[in-house]
Parts: sequence; C-alpha cells; structure tokens
Amino acid sequence: MTTSHPDPTLDTLLHNHPTLKKDLQRGLVMGGVALRDIAQAVGTPCWIIDAGTLRQRAQDMQTAFEAYSLPIDYHFAVKSQDHRACLSLLAQQGWGADVVSGGELQRALAANIPAERIVFSGIGKTDDELKLAITHDIAQINVESREELYRLNALASTMKKRARISLRVNPDVDAQTHDKITTGRAEDKFGIAYNEIHALYRHAQREMSGIHLVGLAVHLGSQISTEAPFRQGYTKIAELIRSLRHEGLTVEEIDCGGGLGITYRDEIAPPPSMLAHVINDIFGDMDVHLRIEPGRWLAAPAGVLLTQVIDTKEGVRKFAIVDAGMNDLVRPAMYDSWHGILPVGPTSPSTPIERVDVVGPVCESSDTFARQRALPSLKRHDILAFLDAGAYGSVMSSTYNSRPFAAQVMIHEGKWEIIRQRQSLEELMAHERLPQWLSQTES
Ligand SMILES: Cc1ncc(COP(=O)(O)O)c(C=O)c1O
Repeated sequence: MTTSHPDPTLDTLLHNHPTLKKDLQRGLVMGGVALRDIAQAVGTPCWIIDAGTLRQRAQDMQTAFEAYSLPIDYHFAVKSQDHRACLSLLAQQGWGADVVSGGELQRALAANIPAERIVFSGIGKTDDELKLAITHDIAQINVESREELYRLNALASTMKKRARISLRVNPDVDAQTHDKITTGRAEDKFGIAYNEIHALYRHAQREMSGIHLVGLAVHLGSQISTEAPFRQGYTKIAELIRSLRHEGLTVEEIDCGGGLGITYRDEIAPPPSMLAHVINDIFGDMDVHLRIEPGRWLAAPAGVLLTQVIDTKEGVRKFAIVDAGMNDLVRPAMYDSWHGILPVGPTSPSTPIERVDVVGPVCESSDTFARQRALPSLKRHDILAFLDAGAYGSVMSSTYNSRPFAAQVMIHEGKWEIIRQRQSLEELMAHERLPQWLSQTES
C-alpha cells in the first residue's frame, strides 16, 4: 500500500480494466450494467462478478495452452472464488476444480464438476476429508507429507480402494511474491522436501497397496509476476521425473499448480502465454499429462466490491469512511495489497482531485483500503468500486464486528441477478446458543 512510485491515474486504471467502461450519464459500467443501479437496488457493500469476463479469461488461458497442443486439464482454484455460479460457469467450459477442503470438494461437486476433474491439495486434510475424496474417486489427491501418505494408504486400504495421488514437491524456490503467499520455499509449510521425494515415491509406488501414485505436483505461490520462479520450479520437477524414470518408476502426471499474477497497480503481469511457453519448454516432450490450477488470474479482474461513503472526516488528512470493511475485503489489511478504486457515479471533469485515506468502519487501524489516494473529491453517499476483487475477496470475508456477509451479484449479458442474499443479523446469530445456566438465569 505504501510504495514510493506514483499510483496509476484513474484513466490508466480504466484502461487496464477493459471490463469496465466510463459512461458520462451512467457512470461506471461493467458487462453493460451501470454499477450505480446495482448499488441502489441491492445496497452496499456488494460484490459483483461479471460472468463474461470470467468466461473470457478462462478461454484466454485455454487458448494460450492450445497453441502448444499440450495434454492438459484445467482446474480452477476454488479457494480464490468459491461461488457455485462461478464454478458451474467454468465447468460448462470444461474446467475442473482444485480444492483444499472437504467443503470445497462438496461445493465443486454441487456445481456439477465431475469428480474425475477435481484435485485436492492442502496440508491438513482430515481423515473424513480424505475418505470423501477416496469415495468419490477424484482425479488426484496431492499429498503434502510423508505422514499424510501413510495415513491415506491406511484409509484407502481399509476402504478396499486405491487412491489416485500425486506427491506435492516443495522445490525450495522463492516465488518472489509477498511473504504471506509464497509456498515453495523449504521453510514454507507446504509440500514434501525435494530431497525426500525420490525415496518416498519409490516406496509409495512399489509398496503401498492403497495408493495409485500417478506423478508430482507443485505450487510455488500466488501473484507471481515473473517467469523465473516458474522456470526454476518446473526445471527441478523435470529433473525429478528423469531420475524417477531412470529407476523404472512411472510418472504419468504433473500438476503445475497456479500462481500467475495480475496487474493490481503497476505490476508487469506476464500473460498466460508466458506460462504456457515455460510449461511447454520444460514438460512438452516428457510424455506427461499436465494440470494447472490458476485462481487469481481468472477471477480477480472479473470482480469488484461496491461500497458507499458513510462519512468524510477532515483533520490532518482527509478520510473517506466507507461501509465495506476489512471483514469484507481483508487483502489490504492482511497482505498490504493495493486495489484500484474508481468512483461509480458519473463524475464531472471539474470535480477537484483530492488525496484521501479510504478506510473501513471496523475498529482496527489496519482496516484501511488506501492511503493518500488521488480521487475526485468524495462526499457522503458517493459509491466506489474496489477493483480486482473477484479473487480472494468474498471467500475471505468474515463477520468481524458483527458485520453480516455482503450480498453478491452476477452480471451476465447486460443483466444482473443476486447470487447471494445479504446476510441478515438474525442469520448471523442463528446458530448461537446461550449456555443453559445463563438462559435459565435470564428467564
Ligand atoms: C495448491 C494451490 N493451487 C492453486 C492455487 C491458486 O493460486 P492462484 O490463485 O495464485 O492462481 C493456490 C493458492 O495459493 C494453491 O495453494
């Protein structure tokens, strides 16, 4: 959030987001719909997803790989955006899912993603979650530790099944991204240490009757904006494949993970063709079936979060206090991330530009979306759009400060529909119970 080089101007932001258009009368328009109309009808805060953008980005990713005719399956990282409408839409386009919990697995199935298109990663899968995956015969379970491998083998054997698995490798590569979203360094909690893989692979493939070991998986981190980490990580995986095969072991599949970054501010984010090129360079002639698991690249630019100015406050600096909080969009508080902010209503070119801190109402100083951002002078009731909020946005929301989950809307071909009602306070408290001793005292 605090960087020395200047922020992009509002025009540059618009230019970088072809999904959004500025209309002199209607204000900010997304997928043919004036966002002001949605805010007025549904209220704020409100998440918007544009189906057309999501579909187009999925298609662009596929097109990049089709250029190399690679044998590849696409798995959308459900953690980035888990609404079933998004998953179903992607399923129609042939996408499967990458899930990291039993809940996400159930969601993917409920969105009509066939089990054979689902991969399951994550370091803390419970017995019940593993059993669910085994029962449904999903495409593969990415095993993240020796301990999990043994546990899974025992579970599958008891169930008289063979679980299709890959070993997730920790390649000890720095993805050069934010510390909190890097996953492939030796000190990170993810995957199995590089130098342990070979022996474990041999053991699993030759000795474990509950396991069908199909290959290796790797995921280096998220919001990766250069080619080097991908190239380094995949090169290490290719070396492993060669040494495993040299010993007569079978490696049929490589799951290349996700991680491709986007331009939030002024990052030079490489296009999917870069990823396709690197993957083809390294695995293209290795006779392996490939998988990728992108999330952010598809979903982030397809979504915005609408919010309204509750009050402005003048002091040493000007604050615009908005009705979305860190409980809605936690990324700035959690990762210091920068989100573009655009006014939603039509703004006259004569409105003066002012520097303002855009802050939420939550009682935490970290509930700050932008510091000293140049925006047309804001006043109460103005509506703003936080850009690139389609990934790691709604999925990370909480009800901190007893703030209900915001509504979600999907735009499709110039029309919009609510796809998740705003949570009511009754719903928020519905599962709370007073302990008996206290309720008795009350009555
Ligand atoms: C195992 C795995 N696969 C895929 C992803 C998706 O990453 P991204 O949204 O950066 O593409 C993640 C997210 O960190 C992940 O942990």
